[in-house]
Amino acid sequence: FTAEIDESDIEKGTYPHFMLKEIDEQPFVIRRIIQEYKDENDQIKLDPDVRQAMMDCDRVYIIACGTSYHAGLIGKQFIEKLAKVPVEVHVASEFSYNMPLLSEKPLFVYISQSGETADSRAVLVETKEMGHPSLTITNVPGSTLSRESDYTLHLHAGPEIAVASTKAYTAQMAVLAILAVDTAQAKGIDMKFDPMKELGIAANAMEALCDQKEEMEKIAADFLPTTRNCFFIGRSIDYYVVLEGALKLKEISYIQAEGFAGGELKHGTIALIEEGTPVVALATQKDVNGSIRGNVKEVAARGANPCVLSMKGMEQDGDTFVLPEVDELLAPLVSVVPLQLISYYAALHRDCDVDKPRNLAKSVTVE
Ligand code: AGP
Repeated sequence: FTAEIDESDIEKGTYPHFMLKEIDEQPFVIRRIIQEYKDENDQIKLDPDVRQAMMDCDRVYIIACGTSYHAGLIGKQFIEKLAKVPVEVHVASEFSYNMPLLSEKPLFVYISQSGETADSRAVLVETKEMGHPSLTITNVPGSTLSRESDYTLHLHAGPEIAVASTKAYTAQMAVLAILAVDTAQAKGIDMKFDPMKELGIAANAMEALCDQKEEMEKIAADFLPTTRNCFFIGRSIDYYVVLEGALKLKEISYIQAEGFAGGELKHGTIALIEEGTPVVALATQKDVNGSIRGNVKEVAARGANPCVLSMKGMEQDGDTFVLPEVDELLAPLVSVVPLQLISYYAALHRDCDVDKPRNLAKSVTVE
């Protein structure tokens, strides 16, 4: 499968589901983002007002829901590690503007595929009234959040039809990485990270994974056919990706799935591990590889059925799948693809309505 993007193309074409088509579009979306956000000298081309807003603020508050919130957690890693700007990430419905803002010059960044999520917009209305600047990162220019915020960065992902967000999530991470590097460069921070080059490598890795659907379908069939629950564990930036992996599995296959920081399982949740409980583990971060391997041993010793997805160069005997190597910071763009596909095939095996899961809407425009 390889899917080019066509703005007017809201048909499934040769695909059985929009979700599968949109998973396949991800490499093309990343390549399109690279093209949209670089100039003729391959330097980052970003709205100077956005750059200035990032320079002027002393703290970024990322406000989002669901998958977009999960992208925000990754964005915090990028902005803090590369641009050295403190970031807080809040679920929109839990953000209380009554809390004392711990910064004199906050910048509110709203991440929203649809740009219409009521929970996020409610916060934007309040923060605007408080006189704080706002940036919306969205797939829909002209959407409410885009119109009502001071600045907008577009995801250029093309229409995302499936309720389960996939290409918007990876697009959000790509735009957040570019934003972080742009701010770092504007601050004169010398870093050994070329986002356009690394995003290009990540796009190639994502495309390679999209050509390995048979392996993903086998993993889903081996681990998930009848299970009633599934745990996802990861450490460091992998932890934020497993939160997204669990949400994907929950929302389209209705399997009770939870993502956990690898080190946290032993503080209670490991009591739920029974014989055969599937535990998906991500191992893409060198500095915590030993620790996450220890967590896998812990759950396996209690009967769990571990499914380890490791980054090439860190793989070990017994790992279920080895991911193509990319810069550790961008590993989330690559490691999420198998989690999306495994969830897709698990949902198919259970005859679920992949594109329109029960009880869910593509854009939640009520609070
Ligand atoms: C993601 O798969 C879900 N469909 C849902 O969590 C979604 O991410 C959330 O409702 C936020 O939507 P938005 O990005 O359009 O604001």
